[in-house]
Amino acid sequence: MSIRTIFWESDAVVMIDQKALPLEERTLTCKRYEDVITAIKDLTVRGAPAIGVAAAMGIALGTLQISTASAENLKAEFYRICDCFSQTRPTARNLFWAIERMKKCFEDLLAERRARIKAIQEALIAEAIKIGEEDIAINRRMGLNGRSLIKDGDHILTHCNAGALATAGYGTALGVIRAACEEGKKIHVFVDETRPVLQGARLTAWELMKEGIPATLITDNMAGFLMQQGKVNLVITGADRIAANGDTANKIGTYALAVLAKENHIPFYIAAPLSTIDLSIKTGDDIPIEERDSEEVTLFRGVRTAPMGIQVYNPAFDITPNRYITAIITEAKVVRPPFAEPLSFLA
Ligand code: MRU
Repeated sequence: MSIRTIFWESDAVVMIDQKALPLEERTLTCKRYEDVITAIKDLTVRGAPAIGVAAAMGIALGTLQISTASAENLKAEFYRICDCFSQTRPTARNLFWAIERMKKCFEDLLAERRARIKAIQEALIAEAIKIGEEDIAINRRMGLNGRSLIKDGDHILTHCNAGALATAGYGTALGVIRAACEEGKKIHVFVDETRPVLQGARLTAWELMKEGIPATLITDNMAGFLMQQGKVNLVITGADRIAANGDTANKIGTYALAVLAKENHIPFYIAAPLSTIDLSIKTGDDIPIEERDSEEVTLFRGVRTAPMGIQVYNPAFDITPNRYITAIITEAKVVRPPFAEPLSFLA
């Protein structure tokens, strides 16, 4: 069984509607780039690599909407569309990586003097599709690199959703778990529900059940107790952005898990593609942290769970300092501390 999160079909971007899961399995078809922007912002598509693929396809879709024949107007409009995408999810490094790659493709085409709009549109669509295909291949390589860190019989804790749904397919942290299962290891996954948007309860639980991987759902505040009871052998999560020194931004709550893991002598792994590494950022202190709507905290599926007017703070991500990370699993290799040198070489 393979989940394909996002794909290009008949001049449209089709994506699994992750807001509807697990109650309903349906797709959303975006025929305009503005629809893709909305889908990224409202979490219809989420997870750093999937956001990158969505932006690349959205930019390609946007160029189909450009009617101008002049190369100058085409360029201005292309860059305006890229700018709109860059304002969607500030923490996800893969978003900016994908935008840069689409810009490079566009500039190369202009330099080749193939400025005929039809040729440019076709090439940008091909590049966006390629980014999606490559993402799946990268995740499979990451899985092969990371699977030896998992032993037969392990109980693994994961946070948020770093699965097929967070990527074009297969997943990062869940990709490593999938790869271990594919080589016959019997493992069990504890799934943090992941407040406030419940990516764990809604998405990771759905993915693991679909795949027949044994899983138990827990609330976020149970993780420490499970570790103390000796019920967790290792923790694996994904990443939204990794600084040059290995400090890692991931879904809010990851830092607490990493501290708990160290206290309980449990290895803590990050699985992420090289496109998540941001060498322009030296430490986690400089990673921009997205703050989201207060209603994610005060309402659930439209039902109010907190008093009207209460002040809310809703950072979507936190930073795990490198000292808590046992290793970073990438498609190139498994990197161990000190991270700065190997990361600068790989990324
Ligand atoms: O807000 P989200 O759901 O986009 O956050 C996603 C995460 O934090 C994931 O763990 C991360 O993007 C890695 S996904 C392979």
